Amino acid sequence: MSLPFDGAITDFYKTKAPDHIRESIAKASKKEVLSDTYPYDVRMKRDAYDNTIALLQIELVKLQRYLTENGKRLCLVFEGRDAAGKGGTIRRLRENLAPRVARTVALSKPTDHEKGQWYFQRYTAHMPSSGQITIFDRSWYNRGVVEKVFDFCTDEERTLFFRQAPEYERMLTQDDIVLVKFWLNVGRAEQLRRIMSRERDPLKQWKLSWIDVEGLNRWDAYTDAIGETLHMTHSDHAPWTIVRSDDKRRARIAAIRHVLQMFDYDKRNDDVAIEPDPTICGSPAIWDA
Ligand code: ADP
Ligand code: AMP
Ligand code: MLT
Repeated sequence: MSLPFDGAITDFYKTKAPDHIRESIAKASKKEVLSDTYPYDVRMKRDAYDNTIALLQIELVKLQRYLTENGKRLCLVFEGRDAAGKGGTIRRLRENLAPRVARTVALSKPTDHEKGQWYFQRYTAHMPSSGQITIFDRSWYNRGVVEKVFDFCTDEERTLFFRQAPEYERMLTQDDIVLVKFWLNVGRAEQLRRIMSRERDPLKQWKLSWIDVEGLNRWDAYTDAIGETLHMTHSDHAPWTIVRSDDKRRARIAAIRHVLQMFDYDKRNDDVAIEPDPTICGSPAIWDA
């Protein structure tokens, strides 16, 4: 069977990856967390995860009822490097919610028509109506990060983006949209491990694009663009929430708990819908390049 990138990722691992990254992947067991700065050495166990996630999904259904009964609007933004775990986290969040209530928006690169519009226009069209949740799998923050790293926008366009994004988000929140911006933080070794496993897995190869492959060479450019973006767009009205995602299970649990904390819905299970682990989920101070 031919691989979509003809072994380009394995080749990167063998010949271009920094030694310490390759060594850490080679010597670690599947259970170990690869990032040195991660607060736990091993990943969460499956049983504990399955139990907690099942209970959290019941809470999400209670939240859904609260949102529809009270006409609230919720907008979740998921950002993060390639293979940070955005798709998986979104799937767990939405799993038991009504498709018309919780919709995922994953826009492809802008068409020529969209390029001629105001940058925020195509995102605005998907904002939630009353009782709805819109989940953005990547968002207007493309302009801060991937468009910078791959030169898809000019410096002027990006400067304007940094001026407009906080104002745009102010308008959304002033209109009572609850806006939650997640940055999923994955370390370099774990990212490479995941991208390599996608290359081998026929069910996951579709997730890979040339951007992921070439992006492996541009880790530092990403780091700079991400740091700048978090700095320029972290505000009181629309703060970033960093989720350390080297362990996908802890990350998903923390993200869901964070969402549940935003609302005072009925019949809350206070044993489960607790504050997320502060070492996993917090302000940009816990972001780690
Ligand atoms: P994903 O990781 O979301 O599956 P990719 O890694 O291929 O997709 O691309 C990352 C992001 O870069 C996507 O949101 C995509 O729309 C955007 N992108 C790709 N090409 C361009 C382009 N030429 N101009 C602007 N954005 C682009
Ligand atoms: P999976 O999502 O289980 O198909 O795994 C895809 C990649 O993620 C593989 O490289 C696994 O080693 C890694 N992985 C699996 N489980 C976890 C977990 N709990 N936390 C972080 N990475 C994981
Ligand atoms: C994921 O793991 O679902 C991602 O963050 C999507 C991607 O590979 O870009």
